[in-house]
Amino acid sequence: MTTPMTTTPTPTPATGAKALPHPPLRRQPALLRRIFTDPQPVLDELAAAHGPMYSLGAGPVRMAVVGDPVALRELFAMPIDDFKWGHKFNVLGFVVGAQSIIVSDGDDHRRRRAPVQTAFARRRLNGWIPMIVDRTDAAIDRVIADLDGNSKQIDMYEVGRSLVLEIAIRSLFGERLAARSEEIGALFQRPQDYLESPAVKQFPHPIPGTKRAKVRADRRAIDAIIDDQIAHLRAHPSDDPLDVLGSLVADGELSDDEIRDQVATLIGAGYDTTSASLSWMFWRASQTDGLWPRLRAEADDVLGSPTEERTHGPKALAALDLADRTMRETTRLHPAGVVSPREAAVDVVVGGYRIPEGTLILWSAHLAGRDERAWTDPLRFDPDRFVDPDPAQQALADIAWVPFGRGVRNCIGFALARMELTLIIARIAQRLDVTAPTSDVPRPVGMVVNRPTGGAPMLVRARAAW
Ligand code: HEM
Repeated sequence: MTTPMTTTPTPTPATGAKALPHPPLRRQPALLRRIFTDPQPVLDELAAAHGPMYSLGAGPVRMAVVGDPVALRELFAMPIDDFKWGHKFNVLGFVVGAQSIIVSDGDDHRRRRAPVQTAFARRRLNGWIPMIVDRTDAAIDRVIADLDGNSKQIDMYEVGRSLVLEIAIRSLFGERLAARSEEIGALFQRPQDYLESPAVKQFPHPIPGTKRAKVRADRRAIDAIIDDQIAHLRAHPSDDPLDVLGSLVADGELSDDEIRDQVATLIGAGYDTTSASLSWMFWRASQTDGLWPRLRAEADDVLGSPTEERTHGPKALAALDLADRTMRETTRLHPAGVVSPREAAVDVVVGGYRIPEGTLILWSAHLAGRDERAWTDPLRFDPDRFVDPDPAQQALADIAWVPFGRGVRNCIGFALARMELTLIIARIAQRLDVTAPTSDVPRPVGMVVNRPTGGAPMLVRARAAW
């Protein structure tokens, strides 16, 4: 007897909701293993067989994948207390701290998120624009010095990583910790690598000398740096702090322990995600015919030459339309979070399917970003698809673009990441010729953060003439 590819959804008389389709049980152990190591091919394969919503696993390890744009809109609008982020599979708390907003629920989450959201107010973000352009210029200057008049293969992923970290440290702490950004980056490296290791290796234990113990020590070293800064701010309060930590301390709503966990969270959540997206941008922008010169022309027009003493503000950012569309198209096809987890705290119905309490819901920006109903020729990289879109498709495309989530638990760093990616690609396109070594799109790697395998080793040369 052959096992059917999928079970037929069974209507539930009480609600009219169906059970999710799922692959045969015998295939599940292998699928579960793969989804936690190399998620994208499995997500695509199962979506092709069952549609963009299906279940996996059983018992305490049961999951529901939600990649249907209409169902996602429903999910993001549902009461937040129907879901839990502090669930048994959330390994992030070990690194970012038990009081981080990322693992908090209910009133704790509301209370902890509010001051962080205030710290990311538009006025403060706009104040960071000149700093982002300035740090990008400094990073480009270092690349040009390294090129020494030649063209050379440079890993633009590494260039982007230290730049993104510098920007994060300056926006979180102002200039005070700018000189220590490399040290802070090094302290975050082991915890980030640990989070990408197989789940079994992350089993909680207190054994000294192990990776887990070393990660704990790294976190203590990060805490000591943050504590120093909190003490400094209490001793020298500022009326209008431009940095996030200053805002959190001045706000007075959170305890020092809570502030420390939010700061570690903001570095952790913003560093790898933004630098991974930037490296996908280097690949896609350099592989797409004619895009690099167009980005350069737009940036020349809007930003002017780096030797001009211009201070850029929100108007310049808004005028970088092609750079912004390039960032939107990159994050559509390569969202940093391929799936994002939350647990159903009660029985819920999403997209007409019943999802029982205790199920881990993996909502997928990857599946929604490649949905054929929402996007014409979804695998084609085309930043111009956002210009005058087909009105019939527009509404669906709007709800299918979710690389930063939506609703009450959306990404707090969305505006910052969008601003960084737009300004950085614009300035780099202006000042460097960047050529991809191949026309093949690299394989993605990473369960927590999706990045191109092998980084972004590009052939780089300084722009010849202005
Ligand atoms: C390209 C860059 C980024 C991407 C793709 C991204 C993506 C996401 C997504 C999808 C979520 C929501 C997950 C869910 O529904 O549970 C999220 C949440 C979050 N992000 Fe980002 N993020 C990025 C950059 C940043 C940056 C720069 C920061 C901070 C400086 C940040 C801070 C956060 C925080 C604190 C949350 C948790 C919000 C909450 O639970 O209330 N992210 N991010």
